[in-house]
Amino acid sequence: MNVPDRLDRARGLRTRWCGELSGDDLGQQVSVCGWVSRRREHSSHLAFLDVRDRTGIIQCVIDTSLDLKSEYVVQVTGTVSPRPEGTENHDLATGNVELTSCVVDVLNRADTPPFSIHKYAESDETVRLRYRYLDLRRDRMLGNLVLRSKINTAARAAMVNQGFVEVETPLLWTPTPEGAREFAVPSRLQKGAFYVLPQSPQIAKQLLMVAGVDRYFQIAKCLRDEDLRSDRQFEFTQLDLEASFVSATDIIEIVNEVIRKILTEVMDNPEFSISILSWRAAMDRFGSDKPDMRFGMELKDLSEVFSKTSFRAFEAPCVKAIVLQDGASLSRSRLDNLTIRSKELGAQGLVWIKVLPDENSNLTTVTGDRVVLESPIYKFLSDAEKSDLVQVLEVNSGDLILAVAGEYRITCECLGQLRLEVGRPGLEEHSLIFVWVVDFPMFDGRDDQGNLQAAHHPFTMPHTEDLDLLDSDPLAVRSQAYDLVLNGWELGSGSIRIHSADIQSKVFRTLGISPEQAEERFGFLLSAFKYGAPPHGGFAVGMDRLVALLAKEDNIREVIAFPKTQSGQDLMTGAPKELSTKNLAELGIGVSGKAN
Ligand code: AMO
Repeated sequence: MNVPDRLDRARGLRTRWCGELSGDDLGQQVSVCGWVSRRREHSSHLAFLDVRDRTGIIQCVIDTSLDLKSEYVVQVTGTVSPRPEGTENHDLATGNVELTSCVVDVLNRADTPPFSIHKYAESDETVRLRYRYLDLRRDRMLGNLVLRSKINTAARAAMVNQGFVEVETPLLWTPTPEGAREFAVPSRLQKGAFYVLPQSPQIAKQLLMVAGVDRYFQIAKCLRDEDLRSDRQFEFTQLDLEASFVSATDIIEIVNEVIRKILTEVMDNPEFSISILSWRAAMDRFGSDKPDMRFGMELKDLSEVFSKTSFRAFEAPCVKAIVLQDGASLSRSRLDNLTIRSKELGAQGLVWIKVLPDENSNLTTVTGDRVVLESPIYKFLSDAEKSDLVQVLEVNSGDLILAVAGEYRITCECLGQLRLEVGRPGLEEHSLIFVWVVDFPMFDGRDDQGNLQAAHHPFTMPHTEDLDLLDSDPLAVRSQAYDLVLNGWELGSGSIRIHSADIQSKVFRTLGISPEQAEERFGFLLSAFKYGAPPHGGFAVGMDRLVALLAKEDNIREVIAFPKTQSGQDLMTGAPKELSTKNLAELGIGVSGKAN
């Protein structure tokens, strides 16, 4: 049987797609279908009609008498002809040909759209979202949807090739301890009881490991009621996976294979790198657990340089700096703003030091330039400190040093953020630098009640050599958790899980979760673990973020068909909406207050 497997075998009203017609088709009679992209009058009796479908645009030469306006839906049957010499359009893939002797059938009329579809002019996002179906009709947005589909297909293929089984898990679920606020769904049959929409299939996939699925994956919808940002939506999609009898290295290899497969499917000559950094090295060098490694400006440690300093502010556990090349020309107000910013970021303050040329100075850089330092703290620096500073930071004349002193974590994170704010390249710098950040700390500080907080989730396995520290020095325990980072975005995260009841109760105890609370919250998982849980671990890739980065979009809304606004609304449907009194009664719900 001749199965249509390509676009050009399309059946129905069209025989060919607009975007695929070329000089190879000259003389053929074809039918294309799509929308009127625009119309230009050519002479008293001829007009050009650009017809657009998902694949592109074809110019059709039509009779001016036809009543055809933008966005009318048409079928055009005509002959593929060369465009007259000199009239070719080199910006268009089909720009050497046009359809002539056209018969046009209007399949539907259209109102004038609220924004231009044929030209991608930036339009107000609220209008775009209200008329999302028109916004999506534009080639940038359709391109994003098509890219997303290709990425999903490649990811699925890579998973299946590696022996993974796709299993769907429920959306009506129960609370899980992953940190985000959850969406609740009232039960009609059991009034007063609620389902919870899953933050991720975390527990379900661990149960599938107990079930012996061994290698599970799913392109899964996850739901979290958290503040929305450019890289966060209430609803998002993960490529979620879990495998049994694996190490962290196995999971990393499996995910790398998925990334390689996706990139080779969607890019012509993908250039990318994937490396591994420990969490500690990421903090030390980039001041972030999601380092953007497309640019340098690494944090340098100055604790040695200032070990005997008489400058009080530098008598701190950690002194670090970044160097902004050619930054000495920054204005005083810009420097003041950076100081304000570093205080917002939790640091005590920021010290700036300009490196300026001076022929008569004794201070020389590693390249031999004679320089002087200019800084509000100049008079507190000894000659040895000035010289060491210039050497350790390898600065050149014209550079700017930004230094912070304080607790390790705050110092690193403050400089890490300043590094991004002054040095981060835009989306046009599109090298794909993937980095795995491994060996995260097991705990992330304490909550209001003084209980330790799990950095990943409570089922994450500590490093076996750190197990003894669980009682004595829990904040020093490293976990077998790993994140994948791309160009400064956290693309995914995962861990090897605890499968031993002893270690699990020890971790719960450290987190301040009593056996009764553990039983009440995830007793079903703990009892499943009594029936032979294999060692297992997994990962989840945030697909919206991956697609956005590959599409060079800076907001995941641009790669989601029907996203919510920052305030959680769907402007097209009007959701969320109030329910009728009858609906509420059926669900056994009383509502106090009104929606805005
Ligand atoms: P985590 O919570 O880190 O791990 O989520 C994994 C990845 O999902 C993406 N992500 C989001 N994307 C868009 N909007 C959001 N609100 C959002 N929240 C998270 C990110 C993130 O890295 N169950 C664990 C994974 C595991 O341990 O296997 C989990 O969900 O890209």
